[in-house]
This record gives sequence, structure tokens and C-alpha cells, in this order.
Amino acid sequence: MFRKKLIAGNWKMNKTPADGAALAAELVTLIGKLSDVDIVVCPPFTALEAVGRTLDGSIVKLGAQNMHPDASGAFTGEVSAPMLRALFATHVILGHSERRSLFGEKDAFINLKVLSAFKNQLRPILCVGESLAEREAGSTLKVVQTQLEAGLEGVSKEQAASLLVAYEPVWAIGTGKVATSDQAQEVHGFIRGLLTKLFTESVAQRVRILYGGSMKPANAPELLAQKDIDGGLIGGAALEARSFVELVNAAAAAK
Ligand code: 13P
Repeated sequence: MFRKKLIAGNWKMNKTPADGAALAAELVTLIGKLSDVDIVVCPPFTALEAVGRTLDGSIVKLGAQNMHPDASGAFTGEVSAPMLRALFATHVILGHSERRSLFGEKDAFINLKVLSAFKNQLRPILCVGESLAEREAGSTLKVVQTQLEAGLEGVSKEQAASLLVAYEPVWAIGTGKVATSDQAQEVHGFIRGLLTKLFTESVAQRVRILYGGSMKPANAPELLAQKDIDGGLIGGAALEARSFVELVNAAAAAK
């Protein structure tokens, strides 16, 4: 089954609106009309509007890094799906390991966000992944299964067809320690098997499963050549136009 590769940049807590718009402008120039890879950038909330304006008319899509499941209300400091839609965001990263470990997000709360994203026509990028201690204890697949099943509770087959999953081993994020292509493929294949059980074979074959964790131009070709690795969720290497575009080119070459 052919799946178009997708490269997403997670800018995390980096870039002012002006810096974000400048990076987005560089990306638009360098990427041009390339259409054989889907590309998403996820700036911080404060830069969404400026980056969105810069991307307008280009093939690069806009995503957010988080959101609250409710549409509005007394949730100081939070941002909702309709607010993201109003800024023309099309994607939202949910359940990133930094949200889980630093801000106490649990699977049940992440699940509410996933349901809200679908309800509001935002495509969730649901992140799953094990810590180093969990990998060393041999519980990687169990952890990933729990996060995936709990995160997708109540999601319909129709909704799941537009889901994106990101496998991000926590020990590989921002550490320079990338998972080997065999380690990553094992988990990606496992995730696709779970999606088959949760939904259908045809849905599971359509869902793109991204790898995240120290993905760089040097290691991307081998990772992207794996049969169940459909793209990347990029942190550090997405903060600079040249390395991000090299990753986009690696995905185009791997198709
Ligand atoms: P790095 O690419 O900096 O390791 O970050 C990965 C990540 O967390 C993307 O969401």
C-alpha cells in the first residue's frame, strides 16, 4: 500500500512570531511546489497566526503542539480546537512525551483531546513511546499498546482514517540517540498491527506512522526506507530551514 510520506516539524517552545514567519518564508521558498511529500510545521501558539499567514497558498500545512479538549470555558492558559481552526491549523500534536512527563498528561485526558480534534476537523498526531527504563525492562510494546489503545478509545473507523501516529522513544528525543531502523520498524509494525485490530486492515494501511527522536538528514534515509515508517516528527532539525528541507528531500527520495 502506497502512503505519501509526511514530515512534520515540532518547533516546541522556540521562535517568536517574527522568527517563525521568517523560517516559514524560507521553507516556502526552498520547498516550492514539491507535492510528493506532505509537510506540516507546528509553531508555538503565539506564532501560529504569523506562520499561517506566511504559509498561505503554499503546500506547507499548519499544526499546533497541544490543545484543550473543551471548546471554550474557564481553563486559564489553555487553547481549544475551534481556536486553532480559526487560525487555519489543520493538524495538532497530542500526547507528546514532554506533555506527558513534564505536565502530567494522562492517557484519558489525551483521549478527550483526540476526540475533540476529530470533532473539529483537526488531524491529530498522537504521540506514543517508551522511556529508557521501560525499554530496558522489556516493556516497550506493552507501553506503546496502552498509550495507543487508551488514546484512541471511542475513535470511529472513519475518523481513524485521517489519524497520524508518531512513535517517539523518549530516550531518543533531543539526545542525539536515534533508534536503530530495526528498533523503530519493530514498533511501527506493531502499531500497524494494533490499528488493524482496533479498526480494519484498510484503515491501518492508510494511517501514517511517523518516527520522532533525533531524526536528522544523516539518519533519515535509513529510517524512512523501513516499510512502516511513513515520515518523521522532527524537533531540533526543524528549527533551521536547511536541515528541515533536507529531511523533506530525504522523504521524497524514499517514497
Ligand atoms: P528531536 O528531533 O529534537 O529529538 O525531537 C523529537 C521530538 O520530540 C519531536 O516531537
